[in-house]
Amino acid sequence: MDKKIIIANWKSHKGPQVIDEYFPKIQSSLSSISWENKEVLIAPPHALLGQVQYAIQKYNLPFKVCAQDVSRLPEGAFTGEVSAHLVKNFAEYSIIGHSERRDNFGESDSILADKVRLCRDEEIEPIYCIQDETQVIADSVKYVAYEPPTAIGTGNPDTPEHIQEVFSKILETNNSVKLLYGGSVNAENISRFVQIPTLSGFLVGGASLEAESFLSLLSW
Ligand code: PGA
Repeated sequence: MDKKIIIANWKSHKGPQVIDEYFPKIQSSLSSISWENKEVLIAPPHALLGQVQYAIQKYNLPFKVCAQDVSRLPEGAFTGEVSAHLVKNFAEYSIIGHSERRDNFGESDSILADKVRLCRDEEIEPIYCIQDETQVIADSVKYVAYEPPTAIGTGNPDTPEHIQEVFSKILETNNSVKLLYGGSVNAENISRFVQIPTLSGFLVGGASLEAESFLSLLSW
């Protein structure tokens, strides 16, 4: 069975104290969820990457770690930056080009192409976000997350029909990419999107923040 990837994007939320609340709750409900059709990635803020990696081992969870971003610059004298070279110690994947980074930090196609290249150099799999089907997809990207800004954090997701249309357009020019959808996905609406034949997974923000809501989303 083709697994759906579900990425829990914690954005700039949570602190070290929540780790030992969140993951034990997930662990205690592990047997109620069918894992054979799901690959779950936890994307914490950079400062929690190591703790999340440790907690996944400690609580023996079938999860992987995903960064939310990497620096566009390599390891070096770049104060405040977190390089792909460092991230790779903690995460197998990284979100690249999330709408909140494009809009708040001016991330352009060329910056994003640099980030993808640095991910490739470090064997981190980029999850490349686009806001619509007209945005450029950097070379070598295998996973593309379509996230319309009007759907992010608004409780107003795109329709399955429109998502399918956007996916078809993307596949016309990038026929080997796997497509994810993100934007107000939750336990109540996820089953509508799972039906989309070309959908390979989800990027989930708000509904991944509490163990209870994430668990019920994972129970579709
Ligand atoms: P949301 O966020 O699920 O809270 O809409 C999704 C995202 O931005 O990745």
